[in-house]
Amino acid sequence: MSFPVTRLRRLRATDTLRGMVAEVRVGVDNLISPLFFDARLQRPEPIAAMPGQMRWPIAAAAEACGPLSEAGVRAVLLFGLPDAKDEEGSASWQATGVIQQAVGAIRSQVPGLFVITDVCLCEYTTHGHCGVLRGHEVDNDATLPLLARQALSHVEAGADMIAPSDMMDGRVSELRRYLDSHGHTEIPIMAYSAKYASAFYGPFREAADSAPAFGDRRAYQMDPANAREALAEAALDVAEGADIIMVKPALAYLDVIRRVRDAVTCPVAAYNVSGEYSMIKAASAAGWIDESRAVREVLTSIKRAGADLIISYHSLDAARAIKSSQW
Ligand code: PBG
Repeated sequence: MSFPVTRLRRLRATDTLRGMVAEVRVGVDNLISPLFFDARLQRPEPIAAMPGQMRWPIAAAAEACGPLSEAGVRAVLLFGLPDAKDEEGSASWQATGVIQQAVGAIRSQVPGLFVITDVCLCEYTTHGHCGVLRGHEVDNDATLPLLARQALSHVEAGADMIAPSDMMDGRVSELRRYLDSHGHTEIPIMAYSAKYASAFYGPFREAADSAPAFGDRRAYQMDPANAREALAEAALDVAEGADIIMVKPALAYLDVIRRVRDAVTCPVAAYNVSGEYSMIKAASAAGWIDESRAVREVLTSIKRAGADLIISYHSLDAARAIKSSQW
């Protein structure tokens, strides 16, 4: 059948019809909001490169999470800035560490919010790399037990799920084994499986004070040229016991999200990263794009590409828009 019988415009005529035939829809259940907690702060501090985002003091956990929870966002992903760093990132596994305290505060002050913690060393090491160094190399195998200690301490503090972002080989099985041997068989792992070495992390590194002091992360994060390799990473993480597979960043990697979605049966998450957020904020501040429409389009495209879950700094705004039917 073709024109004039077929007219695809018929189903685009009204809001009602468009809504009835929409193939995908972003729901508040799909959104995860990242949050930064800083052990050194007394009051919230705006992150210059990420307008609307803050570094929060631990004491402001309710202020940071309450609005998200009220808007219907069910989950947060926590990043921590410690009060001191060392070569090994030991502040990351202290029971009194910034994440451990923030998790405790959220659990008691914002009950019902699902708390995911990022597991990595880069915010806690003096050199800013995601693992321990041997010379100028990041030592994969020596890093694994440190990540396991960090993950366990997050879980002991009350984290509901852990999300390793370090890109060391074998870390999912190490974390799964370590958590299980301490009785935490029910805590899911969301693995940053296909995490690319990306310029789009720039604003985050300012926010989390985690830029590497020398070199870059290309010896452990993935090369943007590779998509088949992302499938290998995803398959390995599934085999090692990951419950959710993540692709990161999202927008320059929508093809990777789709291919991973088609290759695995577990849920897929996509991280709409800091640089993707900052570009929209900058362009809308300049009056060049309509922010809320751009956000809706971006999040919808990530969903259409195949992501079940979307980690985004736009989560609060998006959830409010969805709730008030302004979506
Ligand atoms: C830590 C980590 C990074 C991000 C999440 N976890 C930064 C990096 O790898 O340099 C980036 C998040 C963002 O840009 O929003 N390893």
